[in-house]
Amino acid sequence: MPLVNMKPLLRDAMDNGYAVAAFNLVDYGTTKAMVAAAEELNAPVICQTSAKTIQYWSHREIVSWVRTVAEDSPVPVVLHLDHCKDLAMIEKCAQSGWTSIMIDASALPFEENLEISKRVREIAEKYGVGMEAELGQIMGVEDDMHVAEEDSVLTDPDDAKRFCDALDLSAFACAVGTAHGYYKGEPKVDFDRIQRINALTRTPMALHGGTGLSDETFAKAIARGAAKVNISTNLKHVFVESFVKYHEENPKDYEPLRLIDAQYQASKAMFAGFIEKFGGKGRAPAYLAKAA
Ligand code: 13P
Repeated sequence: MPLVNMKPLLRDAMDNGYAVAAFNLVDYGTTKAMVAAAEELNAPVICQTSAKTIQYWSHREIVSWVRTVAEDSPVPVVLHLDHCKDLAMIEKCAQSGWTSIMIDASALPFEENLEISKRVREIAEKYGVGMEAELGQIMGVEDDMHVAEEDSVLTDPDDAKRFCDALDLSAFACAVGTAHGYYKGEPKVDFDRIQRINALTRTPMALHGGTGLSDETFAKAIARGAAKVNISTNLKHVFVESFVKYHEENPKDYEPLRLIDAQYQASKAMFAGFIEKFGGKGRAPAYLAKAA
């Protein structure tokens, strides 16, 4: 089916107590694997792109991969732009076929962040796509953004309400104690903050920094309003390690298709595990029936 808008999908997730998995794609194989995993579980999925992945490939190539796999599939698929500070790139994505865009102006003071996010709101409206914006500073490294632990700022619930009221977001990214990349110690996720922010904003929350969180943490965050969970680092590791492992176990096999198939199967299994964990299994038919 054609790519879908993120807004009604995440609202369905929030209202029904599940989260849609959002994976940062790397190439065509990982794109195909995430949609195949969703299809096997009859679940919706978000294929998202870091800005540097778009710079490496191109808008045209990424849209053609995601559209191709989505069009052949009966489950809802979103193409979303992850953290982006560049308005020109954001508009180019909306224009090229992304069905959701993210502005990350979270390093700026509240009013400036809101001002820039409002400009992205206009872009989202112009192209009829979903939108995510961020308030508060999420720890760790994502793309070219690095937030040290001492610089991270948890999102204030009252500011979150002002921000969300002004922006009508599909997804609200906020800092609640999670971090991009692998956790060094035990993550300290502020579940009360998630609940309070969700009660005030009634906006589906995007939980960033999904790699390394426990099943219990996912379940508690989702029960309190996390409707989109982002996974990137875990795929990077599976992508490299499955390739290396295959070669180590089959040192004489120089058939690239067997090698990339090992990588594809490992990525797909990882995607399926997260989709199921987030409660996505079997959600596609009910969502599609409601959306029709
Ligand atoms: P991880 O890299 O920790 O999985 O976080 C991904 C993310 O939040 C992308 O925005």
